[in-house]
Amino acid sequence: MKISVVGTGYVGLVTGACLAEIGHEVVCTDNDAAKIRTLESGGLPIYEPGLECVVGRARKQGRLSFRANPADAVAAGDAIFICVGTPPLPDGDADLSAIDHVARLVATEAKSPKLVIEKSTVPARTGQELKRALAVYGRKTSVTFRVASNPEFLREGTAVEDFLHPDRIVVGVEDETAERQLKDIYEPVLERKFDCPVHTPACPDGPAPAWLVTTINSAELIKHASNSFLALKISYANMVADLAERLGADIGEVTRAMGMDPRIGPSFLSAGLGFGGFCLPKDLQAFVHLAERSGVDFSMLKEAEKINRRRIDRFFEKIREALWVVRGKQIGVLGLAFKPNTDDIRFAPAVDLINRLVAEGGRVRAYDPQAMEKARAMLPQIEYAESAYEAAQDSEALVIATEWDEFRTLDWERVRETMARPLILDGRNLLSPCEMRKRGFEYRSFGRPD
Ligand code: UGA
Repeated sequence: MKISVVGTGYVGLVTGACLAEIGHEVVCTDNDAAKIRTLESGGLPIYEPGLECVVGRARKQGRLSFRANPADAVAAGDAIFICVGTPPLPDGDADLSAIDHVARLVATEAKSPKLVIEKSTVPARTGQELKRALAVYGRKTSVTFRVASNPEFLREGTAVEDFLHPDRIVVGVEDETAERQLKDIYEPVLERKFDCPVHTPACPDGPAPAWLVTTINSAELIKHASNSFLALKISYANMVADLAERLGADIGEVTRAMGMDPRIGPSFLSAGLGFGGFCLPKDLQAFVHLAERSGVDFSMLKEAEKINRRRIDRFFEKIREALWVVRGKQIGVLGLAFKPNTDDIRFAPAVDLINRLVAEGGRVRAYDPQAMEKARAMLPQIEYAESAYEAAQDSEALVIATEWDEFRTLDWERVRETMARPLILDGRNLLSPCEMRKRGFEYRSFGRPD
């Protein structure tokens, strides 16, 4: 099928590249001309494991192209995936102006019937507004528009794998034609008929993805409700960690046992600095707004948000307690990205933490395996190290802010020797307290006995 993808953030890029990978002819566009130039010249604006390979392969086979002219790009596809950003407004509500803009573009440029698919995360009922906008902006055309919602559940860092091996594909539709078109698009994924770029020589066995057909409103709600639930789960684990710390229990032992109950599940129970990124925090806020607008008191979500904001305060207290005075001291920070395997620093807890350290007069020397370039632009006031060892050198404390795998296996003796004071403040409970103390470090983390 011919497909247009509007928006080349990580969702748009992964969606476009993977749709081309499974056999469709895909044209991607973005109103950021510089980004399109980068993509056309073979570069990638983000780091996402596996993406380079998928984009390269699809371009070589002529199935994936990038166009700066959005009018051309939307005219090219029978199905148009809207993957534009829905950033938070000052009051926390989602800014849907980019979706409105795409609706106008599609309505005025389309010369043939289009299935317009919302992939961006949007509040429930946006599909209805989109339908109305297409009708209003397209009042002079006889072209038929269908609207569908197809929320994405892609996690940064594993987005390519998540696209090709999803646990479920949710499609919110209003008629069978739209459902059939979406099924055609996803058939190779549903039937696992593609040459998997992630797993060699073969994909692991597992159940086929579930195909869930819902109303558009339900599909939109599923996405917001899922992300908000994940945020709740993390905040819950963080509160249990605080309690464990007071009671002398170990949060790792507690969540491990909790997670073995299939009704709870083991993931998203990792205590630490809390959740960041461009999805969970903004989706939680937008969901709170949606509930308020709909007359539903969902204040438990506000509490989850408040708990998350306080994680930085809690961690900062630990740092201050350990260092006594922060002013004038060099602090090494390992990790800048909001999570490992990405270079995304948007709403990253590490960024908030660094701002606090700098405001308190600390001298920060940071290192991240992938996010340094983006961080340099956002945090020009700190020093950047070429390696974790360089960040540790002469530091009076080493803070772990992102749980990159490479930080698990550092040569800790080397780290200890080079630090001014062998103090580790582990904001992600990445390391074993017992091991680190045996190695001669003062070590603090969340919810584990000192
Ligand atoms: C999230 C959802 O997990 C995806 O399903 C969804 O598709 C995506 O948002 C989206 O809406 O586009 P993502 O933002 O990539 O994905 O990141 P997560 O893996 O959800 O992690 C979010 C934050 O929570 C990170 O800062 C991570 O460090 C933190 N986290 C995660 C914890 O603090 N504890 C945990 O146990 C798990």
